[in-house]
Amino acid sequence: MQYNIAVIHGDGIGPEILAEAIKVLKAVGVKFGHEFIFTSADMGGYAIDKYGVPLPDETISICKASDCVLLGAVGGPKWETLPGYLRPEAGLLRMRSALELFANLRPAILYRQLSDACPLRPEIVGCGFDIMIVRELTGGIYFGERGRGLLDNGDESAFDTERYSVPEIERIGRVAFDLARKRAKRLCSVDKANVLETSRLWREVMHRLKGEYADVEYRDMLVDNAAMQLVRDPKQFDVIVTSNMFGDILSDEASMITGSIGMLPSASLGQGTFGLYEPIHGSAPDIAGQNKANPVAMIISSAMLLRISLGLTAEADAIERAVSEVFDRGYRTADIMSEGCELLGTKEMGEKIVERL
Ligand code: IPM
Ligand code: MG
Repeated sequence: MQYNIAVIHGDGIGPEILAEAIKVLKAVGVKFGHEFIFTSADMGGYAIDKYGVPLPDETISICKASDCVLLGAVGGPKWETLPGYLRPEAGLLRMRSALELFANLRPAILYRQLSDACPLRPEIVGCGFDIMIVRELTGGIYFGERGRGLLDNGDESAFDTERYSVPEIERIGRVAFDLARKRAKRLCSVDKANVLETSRLWREVMHRLKGEYADVEYRDMLVDNAAMQLVRDPKQFDVIVTSNMFGDILSDEASMITGSIGMLPSASLGQGTFGLYEPIHGSAPDIAGQNKANPVAMIISSAMLLRISLGLTAEADAIERAVSEVFDRGYRTADIMSEGCELLGTKEMGEKIVERL
């Protein structure tokens, strides 16, 4: 079979880690007899330098004409002083919105081989955890009205607004309940209903849905408590569903307890099978071009792409197994390095994974 994958290299370590994911996908193609056709598109700082905008229209057309999108990472200090709407991050947000990718799945799994890299004590982690964070991705405060102005007393001020509609909450709620059903059947909805009106509406809608999913054990949790519970006892969580901003923050926290932010993949989905796959980490400009970055989050993102968008389950399993076997053999990148292991660069890690395929 032939599959069309749009690839966006982006900035910083983006091109380096994406190159390894492409190597892995090509190896999967050879092994399983598929042809992956990669079409490059530009976004982020690279696009700003080339076209003056972070997200050219052509990029959206290329993505829409593909089965799915694989994205490295965008952003960097070079573009930090541009006005908000011209920054690389604005391109990413606009892209998620233009492609209607409202559901962001961020699995946080502790590989048993990496328990040494986990900053939590062994008695807290036990035999590991497997959390799925479902982050709402095209609404809330990241997309609300914002601006600057002067207060009546002349003080300079700025504002951002959070708004959620019932259909927006309901559709992300359904994604989370459906996922929980296929997993350990436990769903925790995270909000700040003791303060925010959007959270109170969020909670009402979730409670309405809960009636339809009687087989799923449901609970609410306030976001400050959730941040604490994630490091106190991560095993208590199966699926977490939350708003755009809370999901952004909690998923970084969850990634750290898996050993490194370089380990967490993500899938951004809409109504159908089309999706955008990217690591949750940023472009890490401080280590860009040094062959130091961990390509695993990017490589597992491509496994998610195979499983979810292309329906290639055995192929996705093969990638995940290869990653695990490479860890078994004691190979590590710098971010997950521990005593007695062998340190690999970005390229070498990619090659080891290809070898195990
Ligand atoms: C993420 C990132 C992005 C976000 C940034 C780069 C805009 O932090 O994917 O978590 O906030 O969504
Ligand atoms: Mg983030």
